[in-house]
Order: sequence, then C-alpha cells, then structure tokens
Amino acid sequence: MYYSDEVIEEVRSRNDIVDVISGYVKLQKKGSSYFGLCPFHNEKSPSFSVSQQKQMYYCFGCGAGGNVFTFLMEYENYSFVEALRYLADRAGVELPEQEYSKEAKARADTKAILLEINKAAAQYFYAQLKGSQGAQALSYLKNRELGDDTIKAFGLGYANKYSNDLYKYLRSKGYQDEMIAKAGLITVDERQGAYDKFWNRVMFPIMDANSRVIGFGGRVMGDGKPKYLNSPETMIFDKSRNLYGLNRARSTKKPYFLLCEGYMDVISLHQAGFANAVASLGTALTPGHASLIKRYVQEVYLTYDSDEAGTKAALRAIPILRDVGITARIIRMEPYKDPDEFIKNLGAEAFEERIGKARNGFMFSLEILEKNYDMHSPEGKTDFMKEVARRLAQFDEEIERGNYIEAVAGAYHVGFEDLRKLVGRMAIQTGLAKPVERPKSTQGKKKEKEDGILKSQKILLTWLTSDEAVFRQIEKYITPADFSEGIYRTVAQLLYEQYEKHDVNPARIMNHFTDEEEHREVASLFHTKIKELTTAKEQEKALQETVIRIKNHSIEEATKMLDPTDIKGLQQLMNAKRELQDLQKLHISIN
Ligand code: CTP
Ligand code: MN
Repeated sequence: MYYSDEVIEEVRSRNDIVDVISGYVKLQKKGSSYFGLCPFHNEKSPSFSVSQQKQMYYCFGCGAGGNVFTFLMEYENYSFVEALRYLADRAGVELPEQEYSKEAKARADTKAILLEINKAAAQYFYAQLKGSQGAQALSYLKNRELGDDTIKAFGLGYANKYSNDLYKYLRSKGYQDEMIAKAGLITVDERQGAYDKFWNRVMFPIMDANSRVIGFGGRVMGDGKPKYLNSPETMIFDKSRNLYGLNRARSTKKPYFLLCEGYMDVISLHQAGFANAVASLGTALTPGHASLIKRYVQEVYLTYDSDEAGTKAALRAIPILRDVGITARIIRMEPYKDPDEFIKNLGAEAFEERIGKARNGFMFSLEILEKNYDMHSPEGKTDFMKEVARRLAQFDEEIERGNYIEAVAGAYHVGFEDLRKLVGRMAIQTGLAKPVERPKSTQGKKKEKEDGILKSQKILLTWLTSDEAVFRQIEKYITPADFSEGIYRTVAQLLYEQYEKHDVNPARIMNHFTDEEEHREVASLFHTKIKELTTAKEQEKALQETVIRIKNHSIEEATKMLDPTDIKGLQQLMNAKRELQDLQKLHISIN
C-alpha cells in the first residue's frame, strides 16, 4: 500500500502545482502567486491562491490548502494513493511494486482498509436491496416516497435477515476478522463467533465530505426498537465531526445550510430540491460540527423537529453556531413533526416559503423564554425583560447589541432607551454579582491567549518559509522547541532541517502528513496572512514582536514544566531569558 518518501517526492516534484490546478480552476497571476475562484466553497471574488514557489495552494476564504496531492484528494475525492498514481501517470513516472508499511504509517494503512471495507459493505447492501431478498425493504422505501434516483444517490441498501451474511461476504473478499470488527460491522462473541451488527434493516451509508463511506445507520422497517442502529465510532467514524449529506451539500451554491435532525429529513429535502440539507448524526450539534459547517457557509437554517426535544436542541445549537461566527435562523415545521413529513404533506414550495419566514435565532429563543413568564402581569413582564436584558448584555459587539436592543424593544413594545439602560445595569450586575461563572470566561481567555500564540507561530512559519534572510537572522533565537507541540513543532523541525541542507521545500514537508485534515492545517502554517504592512520598518517591528511573543511563551511554558531540582534546566532557562532581553534590542532587517 505504501510508497517510499523518495518516490512520493519524485512524483510531487514532477507535477507542477500551477499546471495541475490550471486544469480545474482558471488562475491569474497576481504578484508572486496565482489566484482564482475557490473550487471548495462558494465565492464571488478570488481568494484561492496557488504558489509556484511553495508548490502549494491555500484559500484565504475557507482555509482549504495543501500540495498537489491534497488538491486531487479534495477535488476528485481521491485517496492519497489514488492521487499518487494519477500524478505518476501524468508525469510518466513509473511506480515501483508496492512497498509495505513502516511502523509510522500503520495507522493510516488501517484507516485505508477500514474505508475499503465500508465501501464494500455499502455496495453489498445496495445489491441486496435490489436483489430478490430486498423486496420488502425496497417497498418500504418506496412507501416513504423515495425515488430510484434518490435511493441510488444516497446509496441506500438492505441488510438481510441472515445474521452473518455480510461477514461471510467480507471474508470472501479477503478481509480479516480484526479489520471487519474495527470497521464496526461485526460483533465477535466467544461462543457464537462473529456475527453481523446489522440485520433486517434498511441501510443508510454515512459518508464523509469526500463521499467516502465511514459508517452506517440502519432503520427497522416498522416500529421495532431501536428505530435506528448506528455504527460505533471507529478510527474513521467520528460522529461529532461529520454531517450526513455534507458530501452533496458542499457543492451546492447556496450560501446557507439547512440543518436538520434525521437521515430521512436530509434525504426528503434533497429529493425536493434542497440539496443544501445536512444533519448531525443522532447526536446534538457539537463545536466540531459548527467549525466543519463554517468551512462552507456562514449561515444555517435550523429545521429541527417541532416537538419539545427539537426546540430544545435548536436552542442549544444557536450559541454553538454563534461561537464560530455562524448566524442561525429557525424554520418552524408546524403543524408537522419534521421536514420529511412537512414536504410530503405540503410540498417544496411551501417549504421554500417557510425558509423565507425563518426567525432569527435570538428572537426565537426569547419567544420560547416568554412561555416561562406570566406576560399579562406587570411583575411577570418585568422579570422577563430583566432576563432578556441579561442576555442582550452578552453581545460583545456594540453595534450588534444595539441592533438587538432595537429589535427587542420593537417586538415587546418597550422604549429603546429604557431597555438600553436596563441592559447596561444588567451588564454591571452580572459582571459584579457572578464571579462564580468566571471560570468559564477565564478559560475562554486562556484559549484566546493560546490561539494568539498559535497565530504568532503561524505568522513566523509563513515568514520563515518565504524569506531565507529572515530565517538566518532569527535561527539563533528561535528553535523548533519554541513552537507548540504537535504539528507546529514537527513542521518547524522539518523546515529547520531543510534550511540546514539548503533545500527548502514546503510542499515536501507536507508529504510527512497523510491526513487531509493535517494537510489543511500545515498549509495554513505556510500561508498566514500577514497584515498589510506597507513599509519595511513596520514589517520589521511586527516580526520582532512576533519573535518576542513566541520566545516569551516558550519560556513561560518551560518555567511551568521545570523541576526545581533540575539545575541544568534552570541554567538553560536563565540563558533563554537573557536571550529574550537581547531580542528586545534586536533589529531584524527585511529587504
Ligand atoms: N436516531 C438514532 N437512534 C435512534 C433514534 C434516532 O440514531 N434510536 C438518530 C437518527 O440519526 C435519526 C435522528 O436521530 O435520523 C432523528 O430521529 P427521528 O426524528 O426519530 O428519526 P427520523 O430521521 O425522523 O426517522 P423516521 O422518519 O424514519 O422515523
Ligand atoms: Mn421522520
């Protein structure tokens, strides 16, 4: 399965990234980079950049980025090996017979096998649905008004009544018990041996953003329990980071997603022409989901079930989306239970109307809150307004807060000025009276600081890769150990090694990472936007500050870790502090 680093590097270096991407995206040269419309998100002005020097691409809009392999993995949904083979072919490089994995790559290897197994299982379930055993399942789906095209597009299938049919099939294709179990498709019992996890259920393959099957949901045909059985979390299936329907929703040009609760809601909506519908998989929306969504859209319309549970779930989702900068609106389904039933009864046009009438998330949460107060009594209404004011006080942005105060004043017939004053008082009160809630906000502060440092490290890495002169001036002050553990430090190490060998090549650094998610992150390290600083003097000052911030943080961390009896460590720390003093005076010149 695996090829040596040398082979990978040869293929990469023989495929110029600008040439390859030009085959997909219209690029225009601007300064030292090429720019075009990003193929991974919807945009009107080009923020997708390709650097010939770095042999990498990066989108300043959605954060997609990587080298020539990543591009094909994202664009064509290729696996790494598929991208490698395609590019080898394109450049006329003959690939050696497959070489087997090193220790470090075993994990990626297992992941690839799990993906293969899931894909094989999905194909098998689909064939079963279409075969003689699948008649009842097929008519179940037809009864739910799903067309053949929809069934095919979502790859729906059927797990038959035998308890080890899939297992036998996968064994016949050469997969080992261990791997099939790791894929979550069988349970291994000491006495009975291996048996299928799913049987006599309609099957919904769950795909990642690149249409690779990573798990399944299986529904009973009727009222049995549990209604849905889902694959367990596996090496490739993380429920809090995947959304059902995303593989299709990501390529629609709509600027918002419809977020619903269930498999059937997504499928019905797609069938009715709303291909921007996605669902979290039987779990509440997580921050991981929110940041995944943020890659594609800035706005979400929540179309959760109209029962109490659905309303609660929507209320919980609103602040989670807000935290990553997504505005939420609420679509009501009344008098129906969920989008699936709504569409069936009233059709797509009526749904479109509901989209038009969607309520702002904050105003919606007030409507729900209202139900806890006696709005006909003056006390009740006063208490309600106090709570509202407390919530309004939480908008940090003055303009936004003002806009909401205005909207609330209008909706609840209170004077704007009165409400504004109340919000001010509540802000002070909650600020003083609630030190107990502080832990949360200091945690937020800590995180902010952490993010700030990472941002500085990113900026420095971008600088170091783009300008050797800068590297030479700072290398004696900043070493890879000054970068945060994990990807940042690894990347710094590789970059320093490359400078040592006088062979700087950011795209090759990327070859060390096998995961698309890691590629994205590494690419962002080399493409951090450095504020538009016009004069060299401003740039030099910013660079000096960045270096000092990183060193300072690294010393702080080392201090925290230091064992007081470690004399040598103490000395090193003193030296580092002295260096920090020197840095205050250092002049870094940029040409
Ligand atoms: N779910 C689950 N396990 C259950 C019930 C629900 O994982 N036992 C998840 C599924 O992802 C389901 C979603 O929660 O799609 C919403 O549940 P529900 O509204 O009950 O299901 P629907 O999608 O509406 O399914 P159907 O229309 O087939 O009843
Ligand atoms: Mn339903």
